[in-house]
This record gives sequence, structure tokens and C-alpha cells, in this order.
Amino acid sequence: MITAALPYANGPVHIGHLAGVYIPADVYARFQRRLGKDVAFICGSDEHGIPITIRAKKEGVTPQDIVDKYHGIIKKSFADLGISFDEYSRTTSPKHYETSQDFFKVLYEKGKFTEEVSEQYFDEQAGEFLADRYIVGTCPNCGNENAYGDQCEKCGSTLSPSELINPKSMLSGNVPILKDTKNWYLPLNEYEDFLNEWIIEGHKDDWKPNVYGQVKSWLNDGLKPRAMTRDLNWGVPVPLPDAEGKVLYVWFDAPIGYISFTKEWAEKNGKDWKDYWQSEGSDLVHFIGKDNIVFHCIIFPAMMKAHGDYIMPKNVPAFEFLNLENDKISTSRNWAVWAHEYVEDFPGQQDVLRYALLSSAPETKDNNFTWKDFQTKNNSELVGIFGNFINRVAVLIHKYYDGVVPQGDVNSPELKEINKAAAEISGFLDNYEFRNALSALMNLARFGNQYLQNEEPWKTIKDNPEKAAQSLFVGAQIAVGLAQLCEPFMPFSSEKLLNMFNVEKKSWSEVETQSVLIETGHKINESSLLFSKIEDNVIEAQVQKLEDTKQNNKKTNPNANPMKEEITFDDFTKIDLRTATILEAEKVEKADKLLKLTVDTGVDVRTVVSGIAESFTPEEIIGKQVMILLNLAPRKIRGIESQGMLLLTTKPDGKLSFVTPDDSNVENGIEIG
Ligand code: 2FM
Ligand code: ZN
Repeated sequence: MITAALPYANGPVHIGHLAGVYIPADVYARFQRRLGKDVAFICGSDEHGIPITIRAKKEGVTPQDIVDKYHGIIKKSFADLGISFDEYSRTTSPKHYETSQDFFKVLYEKGKFTEEVSEQYFDEQAGEFLADRYIVGTCPNCGNENAYGDQCEKCGSTLSPSELINPKSMLSGNVPILKDTKNWYLPLNEYEDFLNEWIIEGHKDDWKPNVYGQVKSWLNDGLKPRAMTRDLNWGVPVPLPDAEGKVLYVWFDAPIGYISFTKEWAEKNGKDWKDYWQSEGSDLVHFIGKDNIVFHCIIFPAMMKAHGDYIMPKNVPAFEFLNLENDKISTSRNWAVWAHEYVEDFPGQQDVLRYALLSSAPETKDNNFTWKDFQTKNNSELVGIFGNFINRVAVLIHKYYDGVVPQGDVNSPELKEINKAAAEISGFLDNYEFRNALSALMNLARFGNQYLQNEEPWKTIKDNPEKAAQSLFVGAQIAVGLAQLCEPFMPFSSEKLLNMFNVEKKSWSEVETQSVLIETGHKINESSLLFSKIEDNVIEAQVQKLEDTKQNNKKTNPNANPMKEEITFDDFTKIDLRTATILEAEKVEKADKLLKLTVDTGVDVRTVVSGIAESFTPEEIIGKQVMILLNLAPRKIRGIESQGMLLLTTKPDGKLSFVTPDDSNVENGIEIG
């Protein structure tokens, strides 16, 4: 039972999500399937919680609109990138409502909750209790006036709403009142002994130090009861008669999603979901980001323990964060490489992203993604080593042997390298060491490349054809070994390669133990290029996209267009701008937007045709002092020659407004600059 953290459906997924959860989880799931395990790899969209309602408010739509939109985008991105979920569902599904409510009822009936009445902020105008995120006020620590009820983003301190100075509701802007409300709490403190024994004593050596360390520090600080229900109107309703207007805490319902979605999958596939969640023979592994550790190692296990029927996770491999070009990835600042945009910009190159992200997966510390690095990984490693080796083997077999694998020694010592690589990768993946596993794969490609380089079959074919055949026999074994072993990491390329060599996918243990993976006499198919060079201009375009984002983030007015290309002062002096006065104005026949103006420019009196009829009547602008671009080449508009252009700007309602001198004592014909 492999789970990957449910992404919030409040935005698309980006490379940080992919590198730190979904691609490693997928590698692991694919590898387990190749070991012959009965795998359920389950995920879905997390559609409740404050991140969703905040996004909905921002976009001026309903939470349902938001989750419908992003669930679709996220699901498609995962499929496009070859993330092989057995089920990708969503927490607004009926099965999930039923499963999470049933789970809650079991705990309730077993008396596992405590009921507590507490004072919470309430917005009287909106008629709603306020989630901590919906309260803004002054931070008691740094004075930031826009601190949230749970956190000050300026100084980073964790807050509770009662600590804010001058709290205000984000819904109405009013001062909220404190009001009593009842909620159901899980007394986490009662699970401390169990958690200590199970994790601190039981998993000291096999869980990652970052995970173990965080759990230990939470337990050292002591756990407190935590509310499992919230006063909100978006979420799974609390299934009790006296719980009107209350929903399950999003961190109560979301992990139960793993179970609900397993049920959905099991029903469609003739399986029993209990075999995966309630059987001692099953292993449960959660792939998550480091910000999810407490929920998967403390809260969800305590919930499952309280329920009583569930197995505990065997491991919770949590990843650190990936930065982008040395800056923190951020959905709200649009500082990200979005999965769906990558798929569009780099069609057919999903494996390149999988490879690049795996090789810099933030396993033990935060890591960094740069486009330059991405280019190097593709051009030097995938094209230069992996692709180059396989291409040479296939091309030479076609050239010298009509595409038939030649005669060679099945006991050649080089063949052991394939078995060794398979065993190494297996060892690393068992330990969740994805980067090392990928290196072991690449080392086999490096070995193959070097081998061909030393053997030079393109030379020996002339005077020692037996040796050439031997070299290409071994080359073919290594190439097929790579085709087999790269599948968890680069599934698209693996499929292409297996096709190219006309062989079936084998189990991992076969690759680990067999000496021959493709027989002498086996006919291979036409070869095609696996990877292609990524040129500088492609990378520059991506870097420019990020540069544009940076510029955008500096804007004080989000509607402002970006600055145009820079000009010199000389360019500017070519422009002859003057003050002028409109003497006459009349409508242009059969043109709704145009007015014909007679303008005193100080230099002369001339005619200007201007597209302003929807914003002004002729009468209201006669006598108005304006600014004119004097030396614009004349142009015929509706048969009238227009000699110049008036300066105008657009108001938020779309109506035009004249740019005029600030002072009424300015003469006509005065230069502006
Ligand atoms: O942190 C997050 O993005 C959460 N949506 C993860 C939920 S994982 C699980 F418990 F469902
Ligand atoms: Zn602060």
C-alpha cells in the first residue's frame, strides 16, 4: 500500500511537488511491481481546507469551482508525466464522505474524543466562525499589520488569533467577536506511549533521520489534544446530530482519503481493500513532504490506533524542499515550473524532467533546480551517455548484422555488471535512496559506453569479425539491461527501448540473476533516437519566463503591462510632444468611435481624427487643453487626413481620459519633456 500526499486542489502541481513526493513515489511503486509485489499506489486531490476557500475568495468563485478546475489539471499532469497511480480520486467523492464520516463515528462511539467548548472568533456580519487564516491583525512580535491568525509571514512567528493586536475579519473587515463553540478533540497526549514505543524505539534505524528527528522533538515537547472538527462551511459534515455548521478538520479527512480511494479502486478491480489496510501481511508506505511529517507520523497513526483495525505505516519517507533558481518555490508568487506547462513546452520529454528531478531530489536536505543544470543533465548525461551508448549498439547491429543479435560468449564477465547494477538499484530503492539508485543506473550506461569505446567494433569488424560480434553481443545485453532497469525512473524511454530491442519487460529478479537478456539470433526493430539535445534558446526562453515572473511580482498594480523595450534619450528627443487646445469637434459620419477635431497646436491649426467618441461628446471637449504628438506621420482615417495624435489614458471603467497640463496657464505649442 503506497500513498503519495494528496495535493491541495488550489493550484496546479509544480516541480517541487514532483521531486519531493510524486516522482520518487512512482519510482518506488513501479519498482515494487517489478519485484512482483501486489501494489496499490493511491492518491487524489485534497479538496477541503482553508487553502481551497482562500483561493476561491481570491478568484471570486465557489470552492467547488476551484477544486473542479484544479483536480482536472493536476490529474492530467500526473498522467502525462507517467505517475502510475492505481487510483487518483478526490476528497469530494461520495465514497470519501461516507468513509471519513464512518471513521469519525467509530471513534466517537468508542469514546475516543473529548468534547470541548472554546471561544473562537466569529464574524457577526458574515455569520461565520473564522479560521485562523481569516483573521488579520498586527503581529505582537514585529508590528507587521498584515499578520494572519496562525502566522506572521514577515517575521515567521507562529501565532494564535488571540495574540493578534487589532484583529479584523478578512470576510467583512469588521472586528470579530469571541463566541463559544463546541468541538471534538483527539487527546493526542494519550497516544504518547504508543508513539514512543512504535517510532522512537522501533524505527530508530530504518526511518530517515529527518523524519525520526521531527517526531522525536514533537514527542519531547509533549502532545496536546487537537480539535478534529471545525466551524466551517466547506468540508465533510460532522456526522452527529448536534454538529450543525461543523465539518471534519481537513487533516482528519484527508489521510482517510487514502483509505476511501483504495476502496474505490478495490471495488473496480475485484480486490478487498482490507487486504491493504487491515492485514498484517500488508506494508504501508507514505510518501510526503517534510511539512506533512506530524500529520502522517503522529496524528493519522493516533487516529488509526484509536480506531483499532488498521496497520501502522512501515515507513514514512519524507522529502525536504526543492528551490527554483535559488529561490523558494511559491504558488502565490507564481515562482515555479508548472507540470502542465512543462508538458506543453517539452512534448515527449517527460523522462528528461523525471531524470533531472530525481537526480536532484531533496532527499536529505533542500535542493535547487536550475534550467542550466536541467540542460546539462539532458545534453551530457541522457544524450551524451545513455542515449549515445544505446544508439551506437542498435545502429551497429543493424549495420553489420542486419538487425540480428550476433554470436557472443554468454559467460562474458561484463554481463555481471548488469546483475550488479540491478542489485545495487534494488538495495538503494529499498532504502529510499533514489539519487543513488539513479546513479547506479547511469553507471551501467557509463560502463557500456566505455566498453564500446575500448572494444571499437567499428574497427575490429574488418580484421577480427568474431571480436566485433562478441563486443556487440555484450553491448546488446547491456542495452537491454538498461531498457529493463530504467523503467521505474524513465518509463517512457524504457517502453521505447524494449520495443526497439523487441523484448518483453522482465521481473527485477530475472534482470538481477540472468546472464543473457537478449539471445543471439534475436531480431531487433528499427532504432529511433531516445533523447535529443536541448538548445540554448529553449533554456533561455524558460529563464526569461521566470524573469518575467520576477518583474510581475514587483508590480504595485497587477493590471499594469510590463515595461516596453528600453530606448535611448536620443530616441526620446525625436518625439515632438506639445500642448494644444481643441477648437472644434464633430462626429465622423458612420464611425461610432471617431471624432474629427480642429486643434490649435501653437505651431498651426490642424485636423486630428481621434477614437474617443465613446468617452466624450463633441460639446464637452471644445476648449479643452490637451497634449499632442505633433510629428506623427499624417494618416488618412475615413478619408480625412489626421495630423497628429492626442494623449489619452484609460480609467478602470474603460472610459478614456485626456492627459492635460496640471496648470491652466500653459500656452499652446509648448514642448513637453
Ligand atoms: O500539504 C498538503 O498539500 C496536503 N494537502 C497533504 C495532505 S496528505 C494527506 F494526509 F492526505
Ligand atoms: Zn511578525
